[in-house]
Amino acid sequence: MHRRDFLITAAAAALAPRLGAAATPIQLVAQPVRAQILPMDEPATPMLGFNGTTPGPLLRVMQGAELDLRFANRIDDGSAVHWHGLRIDNAMDGVPGLTQDMVAPGGDFTYRFRAPDAGTFWYHSHNRSWEQVARGLYGPLIVDEPSPPDVDHDLVVMIDDWRLTEDGALAGGYDNMHDQAHQGRLGNFARALITPETPVQQGDRLRLRLINVATDRVFPVDLDGIVGQVVALDGMPLATPQAPTGLVLAPAQRVDIIADVTATDRVTVTFPTRDGPYELGAIAVSGTNTARQPSDIPLLPPNDIATLDMDSALSLTLRMEGGAMSPRMMSQSGIWAFNGQSGMTDTPFHSFERGQTARIRLVNDTRFAHGIHLHGHHFVELDADGSPGALRDTTLVDPGTTREIACVFDNPGKWLLHCHMLGHQAAGMKTWVAVT
Ligand code: C2O
Ligand code: CU
Repeated sequence: MHRRDFLITAAAAALAPRLGAAATPIQLVAQPVRAQILPMDEPATPMLGFNGTTPGPLLRVMQGAELDLRFANRIDDGSAVHWHGLRIDNAMDGVPGLTQDMVAPGGDFTYRFRAPDAGTFWYHSHNRSWEQVARGLYGPLIVDEPSPPDVDHDLVVMIDDWRLTEDGALAGGYDNMHDQAHQGRLGNFARALITPETPVQQGDRLRLRLINVATDRVFPVDLDGIVGQVVALDGMPLATPQAPTGLVLAPAQRVDIIADVTATDRVTVTFPTRDGPYELGAIAVSGTNTARQPSDIPLLPPNDIATLDMDSALSLTLRMEGGAMSPRMMSQSGIWAFNGQSGMTDTPFHSFERGQTARIRLVNDTRFAHGIHLHGHHFVELDADGSPGALRDTTLVDPGTTREIACVFDNPGKWLLHCHMLGHQAAGMKTWVAVT
């Protein structure tokens, strides 16, 4: 990476318009777009987007309200849209071959569902996602609490990286096996796209909704110029807020922060790398908010998630295997595997009776980190002593470590379970579970 590659411009790639009220049909058209990823004086990048922009429009509804999304596929490849982290009806989950048919080029599909949980979510293509997400087919989705916390600005911070050529085009080579056998497709240019692009005042209270939309890169992130708390992870409120230090976001993970602006000039989002800190984005600060009285950071109301029944929990193991420098690479049966199996099978990893609690040991027997994502549910990360930690939909498992999760499988249907390093998913690190 060259330092120049991380130059950040104040100009956003695209301003995401805020869309509509519940149950008003929303058109979501996947189509080719041009985006100003690089600084303004450099060329625009041919990409894919929704409704003319990448990231796509901000979709926003009140908790419990219905979304009615008319997806139109106007790219030259099949596609489908997944609503990441939303616990919705299986038929609306957007996984071609598992929950719906592929939406062919020129085709349409209506997604209609109720958003059960308040929080920060996102949507993205789920066909050849390692290519289509890399090319820009994603956007933010916010579900508002019935009485949202009192903040002055509610900002979406989408963190992404892109692999760009000298002339600002996407580099292609999405199926590169060398990438897939290592960390996945890492970009040579990264930014935090912060919307809306509005200056804030010192003393303002912000809600920052960080979303790692990169296909494969894990982003450690430092925030400077604010003081506050992490209040939610992957859309689910924390019972005890955490300090917003040492943040690490695996692909697809979200972090909600409520914080007060202490900076006088700018709040910065920085990516600490081995070569030193790179500024991903910044929020301009001008003036002082003298009206806001100091107050504690509020807790968010919990979402209604079924309680774990640990006494009758099933115990399962999902072992991650493969990748560069592993014996699997010598075989011809897929770069990555779960429990020896690479790619989808006719039978699920497990078939759960609806309401069953299971604890699953996620054993990372590889030299790379993996961000494991379960569709249609949130699960609890268990600490080393078995005590419950945060609710998540995607968990980062470092090389050579084991993480145990526990989940109430209460959403009927066929749900994907895969690595959200999308290049790993492409190369076999995926399976599914059934809930009947
Ligand atoms: Cu973000 Cu299979 O999904
Ligand atoms: Cu992985």
